Amino acid sequence: MHTIVAPDGSPAWLVTRHADVQAALGDPRFSLNKVHAKPGGYKGFELPPALDANLLNMDPPDHTRLRRLAGQAFTVRHTAGLRPELERAAEALADELAARERVDLVREFATPFAVGAISELLGVPPESRTDFRVWTNAVLGADATREGIRATVREMYTFFVGLLAAKRAAPGPDLLSALIAARDADDRLSEDELTSLSFLLLFAGYENSANLIAGALHAVVDDGGLREALLEDPAAVPVLVEEVARHMSPALLAIRRFPLEDLELGGVTIPAGDTVFLSIAAANRDPRRYDRPDRVQLDRPDPARHLSFGQGIHYCIGAPLARLEAEIAVRTVLTRFPKARRHAPVSWQPSVRVRGLSSLPVELAG
Ligand code: HEM
Repeated sequence: MHTIVAPDGSPAWLVTRHADVQAALGDPRFSLNKVHAKPGGYKGFELPPALDANLLNMDPPDHTRLRRLAGQAFTVRHTAGLRPELERAAEALADELAARERVDLVREFATPFAVGAISELLGVPPESRTDFRVWTNAVLGADATREGIRATVREMYTFFVGLLAAKRAAPGPDLLSALIAARDADDRLSEDELTSLSFLLLFAGYENSANLIAGALHAVVDDGGLREALLEDPAAVPVLVEEVARHMSPALLAIRRFPLEDLELGGVTIPAGDTVFLSIAAANRDPRRYDRPDRVQLDRPDPARHLSFGQGIHYCIGAPLARLEAEIAVRTVLTRFPKARRHAPVSWQPSVRVRGLSSLPVELAG
């Protein structure tokens, strides 16, 4: 447990032990709703009200209602149904790379693949697909400015309002159409709830997935032993994906939380309303919990037992999709380019929120 200064200069707590992070993620006394923050506490970036009414700013019962409606549309079956399309998309990207000697697997594979996957899920037509990373960087990047954030958020808002209107007029077999149709007795998602949920799905989903995919590919092209093991036993690819999720923790921190009352965590009393950051990254490499935590290895007992997708009522709704994307990406690169090797140093995105490569230079024929 540490006291820190948040990026906006306000004081906060940083929780790093696995046991404490896990306990706090599941503890209903930690609120995600900003109304419980002390005055002068952490602000983060401010969104217009139509985008702020999202799952990650809510506690029960509001959260329960919204999550139930979202869950009706976002089912494991819905995600699994995307497999053939994602496999086709990964093969098409591999076809484009095949004639080349050297490629950047972040820019030319992981990013376009993740953009395609989230677009397919939400039903974004091919002509309006864009590199969402431009948006996510403008909002989450190290050099994001308040002005830049405001302008980008306006652009994203306009994009989603237009997209939702188009889906209402002509529903398709996509998640947004399913969200519009989802209802629970007489209840359904309001226009603002739909807009903010679509926005959250894109934001929460795209960047983290792109980073997990690139991280998994990095492990494969950098570690000959791992690559051989996976080529010999392709059924171990999902295990690699879990292990990379633990090791790299694409979402370094959980969403900030505010204790509803003075409470004790890890032997320290945290006053009500203080800002608390839970370090998923530190917890996932806590030596009290994992043997040799800094190694990526395929033989851990319970490889999926990491905190990368959170835990409890806010557990990541897109985890099945992220896992599917990463699995397909790794399988495709392994099969199509079994000798691919890194030929120059990688670079990382400068961010305190996300961990992700910004380049992965690879020689395809090894
Ligand atoms: C590797 C990829 C991903 C990672 C590491 C990740 C991580 C997380 C984490 C840690 C949380 C919990 C936050 C907290 O409790 O503070 C979360 C929640 C969430 N994630 Fe993901 N996520 C990923 C992919 C996705 C995808 C693909 C989608 C959707 C398309 C998505 C949508 C969401 C949503 C909507 C929530 C909020 C759930 C709630 O509050 O009930 N995520 N994610």
